[in-house]
Amino acid sequence: MKIAILKERAEGESRVAATPETVRKFIGLGNDVAVESGAGAAASIADDAYAEAGASIGDASATAKDADIVLGIQAPEVELLAGVKPGAMVAALFDPFQHRDRVEAYAKAGLEALSMEFMPRITRAQSMDVLSSQSNLAGYKAVLTAADTYGRAFPMMMTAAGTVQAAKCFIMGVGVAGLQAIATARRLGAQVSATDVRSATKEQIESLGAKAIFVEDVAGIEGEGSGGYATEMSDEYKAAQAKLVSEHIAKQDIVITTALIPGRAAPRLISDEQIATMKPGSVIYDLAVAQGGNVEGSVPDDMIERHGVKIIGYANTPAHLAADTSALFARNHFNFLSAFWDAEVGKPVLDEEIGDAIRLTMGGEVVNERLKGAE
Ligand code: NAI
Repeated sequence: MKIAILKERAEGESRVAATPETVRKFIGLGNDVAVESGAGAAASIADDAYAEAGASIGDASATAKDADIVLGIQAPEVELLAGVKPGAMVAALFDPFQHRDRVEAYAKAGLEALSMEFMPRITRAQSMDVLSSQSNLAGYKAVLTAADTYGRAFPMMMTAAGTVQAAKCFIMGVGVAGLQAIATARRLGAQVSATDVRSATKEQIESLGAKAIFVEDVAGIEGEGSGGYATEMSDEYKAAQAKLVSEHIAKQDIVITTALIPGRAAPRLISDEQIATMKPGSVIYDLAVAQGGNVEGSVPDDMIERHGVKIIGYANTPAHLAADTSALFARNHFNFLSAFWDAEVGKPVLDEEIGDAIRLTMGGEVVNERLKGAE
């Protein structure tokens, strides 16, 4: 099989879908690997490092030519894949609800699109889960960026010239990114509190030494929710949450929002009115900005100021630590394909549970039930 790694073309995307380590491993399974020249440059991986690992280096068309499998971070536009083998597999982030046209184009081209963000939340798929691996580092980086933007210190410091107060940091949404954000803010010495709609996160927040701030009078989501994800909350819950946030947020210096609902716009958690109650110099980092934002007024790929509060909205936070996020993404790809590698046929053969969940297109059709259900 020929596996192709193209240079990412989306604006601001600095990650790459394979590293020399995963190239070696794919070659070990009996494949040829082709890497487009410069594909790893923004993630600090030189062409030579791929070549040393055994990959061939070429331009985009030489890389894609006759490929059986294409691995990407963000799915390449179909035009780039003109030379691949008929029915080739393309595994990447497709953002399928927002880029339905691209899914149709893949179907039309007869490609097998595998949407890595649809990986089911089951134990055996954990090592293949790009949302987890990328969110983890995004949560970390959001806190560092907020700390760097904040004009004060995070830890309490007792100096001969007086005491510096600890920053108060509030994390909204305690999934993978939120948990890492709590841990990072704690390590930096902030006083940390956090909230979520899933009651299971209460214990997780407390076990990291942060304070859990929860809506008490309206029931949230018990257990892990559907497949570990949250759903849209009732109007009654939203009103209770808004009241709780209003009381809490005015006392916060840093707020990191991470709340997402799969297949829908991100829930709005902070209004302009609430921002106005925060102290000047406070910082909000909206990690959900690309999905519509948790924070009123946040702008993708920009930092704006409202009522003296800085609102950071970098849309692709994982790309800000491209070397590490690429390494994890590349391993997710390898763990996924190698788990299904059929040595006899020399290619991956996906099972129903994972194959049906992530496959968007095959045989000229859109085949994904979740996507078809959203029509
Ligand atoms: P996510 O990125 O979809 O959402 C982030 C967080 O926002 C979630 O905790 C969600 O409950 C919360 N949220 C949604 N609406 C909200 C609202 N209105 N107000 C406050 N918070 C809100 O979630 P993520 O990070 O993907 O993780 C979700 C769960 O899935 C976690 O329990 C995680 O441990 C689990 N998981 C399981 C995996 C597996 O078993 N393979 C892999 C990854 C995560």
